[in-house]
Amino acid sequence: MGRSLTALLVATCLFYVAVASSASINLKALKISGKILVAQLMQLASYSDDPSPSVTRILFTDNDLKGRRYIKHLMEDAGLSIYEDPIGNIYGRYQGTDPKAPSVGTGSHTDAIPLAGAYDGTVGVIGGIAALKALKLIGFKPKRTLEVVMFTSEEPTRFGLSCSGSRAMAGMLDASHLASLRDVNGSDFMTAAKKAGYGSSDYEHLLSLTRRRSSDLGYFVELHIEQGPLLGDGGLDIGIVTAIAAPAALRITFNGDGGHAGALLMPRRNDASLAAAELALFVEKAATSSGAGDTVATTGLWEVKPNAVNSVPREARLEIDVRDIDGPRRDSVLNAIKQEANKIAQQRRVQLAIDIINQDPPATCGRDVIKAVEWSAAQLGYTSRHMVSRAYHDSLFMAQIAPTGMIFIPCRNGWSHRPDEYASPADVEKGVKVLALTMAELAGDQDDDEKKVEL
Ligand code: HGY
Ligand code: MN
Ligand code: MN
Repeated sequence: MGRSLTALLVATCLFYVAVASSASINLKALKISGKILVAQLMQLASYSDDPSPSVTRILFTDNDLKGRRYIKHLMEDAGLSIYEDPIGNIYGRYQGTDPKAPSVGTGSHTDAIPLAGAYDGTVGVIGGIAALKALKLIGFKPKRTLEVVMFTSEEPTRFGLSCSGSRAMAGMLDASHLASLRDVNGSDFMTAAKKAGYGSSDYEHLLSLTRRRSSDLGYFVELHIEQGPLLGDGGLDIGIVTAIAAPAALRITFNGDGGHAGALLMPRRNDASLAAAELALFVEKAATSSGAGDTVATTGLWEVKPNAVNSVPREARLEIDVRDIDGPRRDSVLNAIKQEANKIAQQRRVQLAIDIINQDPPATCGRDVIKAVEWSAAQLGYTSRHMVSRAYHDSLFMAQIAPTGMIFIPCRNGWSHRPDEYASPADVEKGVKVLALTMAELAGDQDDDEKKVEL
């Protein structure tokens, strides 16, 4: 047999020995219960501004603070060391045997948009804590430190900016922008953070203490419900995310003269709300005619002033969400919307203001993390498929710091951001088991070259 073929054979055998033997985990001993996980998710869901089954939990509100206290209780109960940074990210850490090695992170968010469900984000936080607890309980000694993060305000609800905690970690949030944000009551971020027990002397300092680098974070993997129908339609257990779509959001404000709904005749009007209506229909057309089914656009926020039946609208404020897995294609849709807004403003003789809220790059998931998730799902005997995440997540920003991946579990009918969002205890349990094994695989264990996964 030729020398090169022998070399190839040896290399292949070494690869499989390495992969199979790198995490010393007795799968049967992993104590992860879907029933207990869902009970914890329901407890967290009870901290809501709206009655069950809706969940509304907005950044730094009383219910957000109750949720934070509950998450820290679960971290304590799991024996993790807890740290909170000044923007409000909460870390639970399981120290590795090599403290200098960059850690393996997981996590997600617990804030919820108005009238949402109980599983978006929370599965990744409560599941991450349970995964670390289960590894600790079986005596797994990770080489790299394992950490689970509850990220501050992944949802844009209060200050209009998505993923502020992970964006700040990745160094993609500048102090002046954070300082410029206001909520509906005109309160700024730092005031709200300080009231919640976070914050710092100034925004620069706050961001400097939040910043993470690839020197201290080696891998990141997030568990999340799919928020789409593909896994359910395919009867599959696990989604292995390979890329995360590029989100952008812009704010469009039209201002007209308003006036009396009875006395002002039609030719003299410059109705701001009709300008907004024309633009909203254009947004839909721009997405459906982009040439790809991956382009989506939504006019999800629409405010009219004075919002009175007998007054011609003098102000209309829209917030428009545009996404695509292809950054340049997304940007061309954004540009088309801005041009059309200018055209409508001229034709309807209204003033126009355009603000870009965020315009983020897509993320490609790290090969090693994808392989570790594939391997873990296979070890556990779960069916899986590669897929793209069309929702954004904190992983979009963690991917700027370290090789990042995501593990999806099915959610009923693909429904999310609605009260009837649902994932079964069995699916939650499967996701957490895959997460635990993936993190162990990426962390390596102190006696790396011994034992293998005992099935
Ligand atoms: O909007 C999103 O993609 C995320 O669920 N916040
Ligand atoms: Mn969400
Ligand atoms: Mn989410």
